[in-house]
Amino acid sequence: MAKQTHAQWSSRLTFILAATGSAVGLGNIWKFPYMVGEGGGAAFVLVYLACVAVVGLPILVAEWLLGRRGQKNPVNTMLEVTRAEGRSRAWTLVGVSGVLAAFLILSFYSVIGGWSLSYTLQSVTGAFQGQDGDGISALFNGLLASPGILLLWHSVFMLLTIAIVARGVKAGLEGAVRSLMPALALVLLVLVGYGVFSGHFGQALAFMFQPDWSAIGGHMVLEAMGQAFFTLSLGMGVMMAYGSYLGTEVNLLATARTVIILDTLFALLAGLAIFPIVFGNGLDPSAGPGLIFVTLPLAFGNMTGGMILGLLFFLLLTFAALTSAISLLEPVVETLEERTRLSRMAATLVAGGAVWLLGIAALLSFNLWSGVSLAGLNIFDFLDKLTSKYLLPLTGLGAVLFVGWFLDRDRVIRELGLGRNGTLLWHIASRYIAPIGVIAVFVSSL
Ligand code: PHE
Repeated sequence: MAKQTHAQWSSRLTFILAATGSAVGLGNIWKFPYMVGEGGGAAFVLVYLACVAVVGLPILVAEWLLGRRGQKNPVNTMLEVTRAEGRSRAWTLVGVSGVLAAFLILSFYSVIGGWSLSYTLQSVTGAFQGQDGDGISALFNGLLASPGILLLWHSVFMLLTIAIVARGVKAGLEGAVRSLMPALALVLLVLVGYGVFSGHFGQALAFMFQPDWSAIGGHMVLEAMGQAFFTLSLGMGVMMAYGSYLGTEVNLLATARTVIILDTLFALLAGLAIFPIVFGNGLDPSAGPGLIFVTLPLAFGNMTGGMILGLLFFLLLTFAALTSAISLLEPVVETLEERTRLSRMAATLVAGGAVWLLGIAALLSFNLWSGVSLAGLNIFDFLDKLTSKYLLPLTGLGAVLFVGWFLDRDRVIRELGLGRNGTLLWHIASRYIAPIGVIAVFVSSL
């Protein structure tokens, strides 16, 4: 029986909103468009879609299935499921590394969330107005060079995250996604609408959907698969934790399909909002990570209505980052709350406070501690690489291998409500394709 404190989502719809809120984040609005730009446009989009379908979907379903079985935090869920199925307790490591990954990722995710807050403010104070490329770059570099300002915004972002998570699954998480997700969709549509009338929409469409097949290569496939993994919030205990608040009546496959479609839609629309602005201002679509913090502000500062568009864009980014951040804090808080005697509020303060502290180390690596290196990387890059290269793939791989190979098969088939063809597909995807896909990304990234 689930502990009394263990909540349930009010409805399938709020679960979809929350899971989509987690999935849609910096990965969609920041990373996806620049990866499309670097990866040769439409060819990348197609490869990405294939990866999401054959690798992302099975792992997402596996994580939800485990969480729903356990009805507890990822660690206790794995303890419970391994015991019930008579499997080695070593599988509990999947839960442990998931929670650890969420903790570590949030520390630097919050720093970027802070950049987004800072840019939201700067877009209305006119900081971008009339700047040339050098001026805009100086603005961004200036932000990175100021520990105090980075700390301020990182702290504000973490406080917002903590305030939401402390209120629990229903009042906190659901309340936030109920208002933020529609706002997110609305702002994005306004930005795409602007793109449609800006005169450069066709160019953006062609860029994103006219494939240049020569761009497809091993490296690009691996990049696309890594992105599929990150954008669906896999391998970090997040989806397991969200699954633990699910009731048995929810159809996991259908829900996963919905969330994946929404997540992909947000990413594609983000591209269709950004590229018309990039082309319209004669800027470089393959600018890489600087695309939204340097390239776009340059455009916002030199176009009519740029202040409003800039404000909308950075609000969009901030909301998206916030609904992802709460999903990263949740597994850590759930674990603390259920494994110690701390109340929800205390557990959130402890977990959030620890994340905040680690985030300070991450933000100092851009300035005061830029000389500090771990394994040859500064702290920010170290946290990023440690999680994205090791913890995430290994956790996701563990989850899907465990579900595919070590759970009672008939029960899984019943839980997923599969027919004959579905069973065969699920079998092939969860046992072979998804694990092999993850292993390929993992090995190649080493
Ligand atoms: N999926 C989010 C994105 O695309 C990132 C994220 C990762 C969010 C892990 C939560 C947990 O930005």
